[in-house]
Amino acid sequence: MELRERAYAKLNISLDVGEKRPDGYHEMNMVMQTVSLCDEVSVSTTEDGRISARCNLRFVPSDDRNLAVKAARVFLDAAGKAGQGLSLSLHKRIPVGAGMAGGSSDAAAVLRALNALYGAPFCTRELEKLAERVGSDVAFCVAGGTALATGRGELLKPLPELPGCKIVICKPEFSISTPELFRKLDSAPLRHHPDTAGILEALERGDLTAVCRRMYNVFEDVGDRRLRTVAEIKSRMLDFGALGSIMTGTGSAVFGIYTDAKAAQTASRALSRDYKFCWIAEPIGRVLSFEP
Ligand code: C5P
Repeated sequence: MELRERAYAKLNISLDVGEKRPDGYHEMNMVMQTVSLCDEVSVSTTEDGRISARCNLRFVPSDDRNLAVKAARVFLDAAGKAGQGLSLSLHKRIPVGAGMAGGSSDAAAVLRALNALYGAPFCTRELEKLAERVGSDVAFCVAGGTALATGRGELLKPLPELPGCKIVICKPEFSISTPELFRKLDSAPLRHHPDTAGILEALERGDLTAVCRRMYNVFEDVGDRRLRTVAEIKSRMLDFGALGSIMTGTGSAVFGIYTDAKAAQTASRALSRDYKFCWIAEPIGRVLSFEP
């Protein structure tokens, strides 16, 4: 029996970081958005008792360092099916090391696929609780849509959907390590914070322009030399008519939001002359229903 799931990428409409906690994680306050760029994940049962993973990218690990494998193990343990063999296949399009939750999204897709395969033993909220054990961004990726994520990123509040738009995503060649950027942030006091409350109000009103005007990611201000490239891509996104442009997560991908599809195409075409990884995406709503 084989099940296929799309694993959608996430973008940060805003990203704020608070205190470092005793457990080493940081308090987060982020508006997250699922977008149409996706990996394809398939899960099938096997008789060999092992969890194995295949991927179109050779450098992606196939053991427990791969969040999809970790998610499969967490699910089987919780469902009382430990020892069941599984074969996972990942076709990745979401760039690795981009701040787009590619690995987390694959893991969440595995949780959804296994839940469907075993006749839905867990509700959405329970799947999100399992996801927390796999990684900080995995819980959001279980249902996705537009949400406020707090705590270490696992406490989720669904928000009104982002109004329709075109999103140009551009990733420079280099990737940025998440723990490394958190360490830099610890040694550089933050000068600015996003107006998260203003973004929530703008989403309530369905005012895309007001959302975009307030988009901000504190990681852009940590003084890393590589972020000069990020700033350059942002400024080009804005020159081509983006309503707003920021880096997502800990980077290195940058996105710009456009209402005009032609402007988005022009921006993407121009940026792709200098940067190999450019896409045009759209916002995607929740993939699982909200259960209180
Ligand atoms: O939870 P996850 O394994 O995705 O986190 C990766 C790393 O990112 C952590 O080891 C930590 O260094 C950093 N992190 C953090 N605070 C968060 C989330 C992640 O410091 N809220």
